[in-house]
Amino acid sequence: MPVDAAETRLLSWLSNRRLNETVRMNSLANKRILLGITGGIAAYKSAELARLLGKAGADVRVVMTPAATQFITPLTLQALTGNRVHTELLDAEAEAGMGHIELARWPDLVLIAPASADFLARVASGQADDLLSTLLLATRAPVALAPAMNQAMWLNAATHDNLRVLAARGMQIFGPAEGEQACGDTGPGRMLEPQQLAEKAAALFETGLLAGLRLVITAGPTREAIDPVRYISNHSSGKMGYALAAEAAAAGALVTLISGPVALPVPERVRRVDVVSAQQMLDASLAEAPGCDIFIGVAAVADYRPASVAAQKLKKTAQSLKLELVRNPDIISTIASLEQRPFTVGFAAETEDVDANGASKLQRKKLDLLFANHATSTFGSDAITASALWSDGRATLGPGNKSLVARQMLALIHAHYLSLIHTPVKS
Ligand code: CTP
Repeated sequence: MPVDAAETRLLSWLSNRRLNETVRMNSLANKRILLGITGGIAAYKSAELARLLGKAGADVRVVMTPAATQFITPLTLQALTGNRVHTELLDAEAEAGMGHIELARWPDLVLIAPASADFLARVASGQADDLLSTLLLATRAPVALAPAMNQAMWLNAATHDNLRVLAARGMQIFGPAEGEQACGDTGPGRMLEPQQLAEKAAALFETGLLAGLRLVITAGPTREAIDPVRYISNHSSGKMGYALAAEAAAAGALVTLISGPVALPVPERVRRVDVVSAQQMLDASLAEAPGCDIFIGVAAVADYRPASVAAQKLKKTAQSLKLELVRNPDIISTIASLEQRPFTVGFAAETEDVDANGASKLQRKKLDLLFANHATSTFGSDAITASALWSDGRATLGPGNKSLVARQMLALIHAHYLSLIHTPVKS
């Protein structure tokens, strides 16, 4: 690999790391965090906490006690998380969307920050007199509490008894810190800083293989319109791309799936962008490329499209019909040729000379890695065997179902991605 290309990749990787703020927070990718805010002056810091959690890739939903809304508005939290903020236990509108029991089942972690002395007391005694305390009774997710209160309240034996009870029930206690307080006192009881809380939350999760990496995957066929009711397409089912997306999300990656028309549900924790034609798939891929660490082109892109799309349905007047086709753009080559290119992985479904044709595509399209397989045995099927090809090596993956082979592919992609970004940059 040319030295400057290696350097470009290394710099791009480093800047993506910086985007994630710290590598330590990668384990928050794809995690569902219910952020509970209770009434205390530190509630203003919860806005920054919500922002940091979201930036680290977590899906954040906020529940506020009525007292918390006196310190910070639900609108601020809604704007920062992109999700409706829940405040009332008996809110018909909220129950119609995500009811309180559904909300209790949703998170991977409930983080209460700030947790006031009053809230700790109510939870310790098992009360369920507002939405947040009710959720704590109903949830099976781990709970972390970030106490924040005046130092005298913190030092009071009642508070300590409550915390002992809560810790004995398995709740995590984050902080508090010591220092200057809003009321003018100095001592213990300050809420930890948002960055510290986010890091503690991240530490509660195991790190997946692809934690925090941003993956873009194309999948399925494209359709090229002939007229308003007809199109040219192929037999791709989208199963391989969808299996890769599901497995990558399970391994902690932030996955965007750019999908042609298929009959498959969106995998959990994957963001899907729906497209129809090759041109739309290219536009979506270019829009997602900035900040993408790994681009995987699994889509069976139609190589040609009709030179013009008839405005009205074509009538069968003539005995024969000639369609003029023009070449579609090559999506993966376009991505692999970008100046700030992601690690780029292609697929090749071949009907003959699988490895030889695959190897020439790897080179022609400037790919880092390519998985080649036999087209007829793959389309629509659940089982797969694939050749993994790279500039100076090959491996056979499978046979196995597409989920198993997807995991093997991701492990190989990750290993190559790491060795690529660790290529020493020579001067
Ligand atoms: N691909 C793409 N854009 C295209 C065609 C293909 O991005 N217009 C990508 C596919 O997603 C896949 C790889 O290129 O990752 C190889 O696809 P394939 O259809 O096998 O390659 P073609 O270039 O179309 O070669 P062939 O002449 O065999 O059709």
